[in-house]
Amino acid sequence: MLLKEIKNIFHTELDVLYGKEEVSSFFYMLIEHYFNLERFVLAIQPELVISKEQETTIFKALSELKLEHPIQHIIGTSHFMEMDFMVNPHVLIPRPETEELVRWIIDDAKNAKKSLTILDMGTGSGCIPISLDTYLTDAKVSGLDISLDALEVAKENNKRHGTQVIFFQADMLNLKHEIKYDIIVSNPPYVRELEKVDMRNNVIDHEPRIALFVPDEDPLKFYRAIVSFASKYLNEKGCLYLEINQYLGTEMKLLLQEYEFQTIELRKDMYGNDRMLKGSKK
Ligand SMILES: C[S@@+](CC[C@H](N)C(=O)[O-])C[C@H]1O[C@@H](n2cnc3c(N)ncnc32)[C@H](O)[C@@H]1O
Repeated sequence: MLLKEIKNIFHTELDVLYGKEEVSSFFYMLIEHYFNLERFVLAIQPELVISKEQETTIFKALSELKLEHPIQHIIGTSHFMEMDFMVNPHVLIPRPETEELVRWIIDDAKNAKKSLTILDMGTGSGCIPISLDTYLTDAKVSGLDISLDALEVAKENNKRHGTQVIFFQADMLNLKHEIKYDIIVSNPPYVRELEKVDMRNNVIDHEPRIALFVPDEDPLKFYRAIVSFASKYLNEKGCLYLEINQYLGTEMKLLLQEYEFQTIELRKDMYGNDRMLKGSKK
């Protein structure tokens, strides 16, 4: 079958669900992932024919997209900070907003005069600490998660990237600890059940609930635990960096003030939403 015919089938079957632009992007991601074909291949080889075996592979992916499986689960990886991370249904798919948080930390920390110790709370795929370990080569980085399945993915990503992050299982709502850190970072669950109406099915049905949702009546549940922990386990002048729910910026600033954090800074993400918060210890 001609590759361009398959592209047309993708548009016929999927445009109503995702829109033309996103379907094109899925199609090119798939041919690159499965057949190592670059996106301009159809421009230079419009009559390119793919084998029966390749047809089976790409039509299987099409069926999964129809069922609204995330493209990252279909190909098993997600791009983050110029790196490919293994993902599966046990971990949150790394988001571009989280890259912005990681870049903020790197910008602040890259000229540090000492080797920094860093903890990521609720690490999922390990995308935050593995990126920090890659870009801040002197740092000593750890990541925790309550989910053993998520930690397995994080450890596999650690291996793939040749990084030295220490991953361990812990419940951040009930954390007993001895070590102090220079930087604590977290992108904890923060979506209220009431916000589900704004979310797409491929997120609600296929990404782990434990990574996403908090009760409507207690949306800061994780942040209170993290901020309280950070107030005790950050070194002097240490910094806390959080990804936050865009609707709760004011409440989050107040929470940091309550725990006497200094120089509190709220930043917007690329979509103009309040998304990142930093506070430092005296
Ligand atoms: C929003 S996801 C963030 C994942 C990853 N850090 C990222 O930014 O892509 C939140 C993570 O917190 C973990 N988590 C949920 N409850 C937890 C708890 N009580 N203690 C530790 N980790 C928890 C989930 O398993 C999930 O991996």
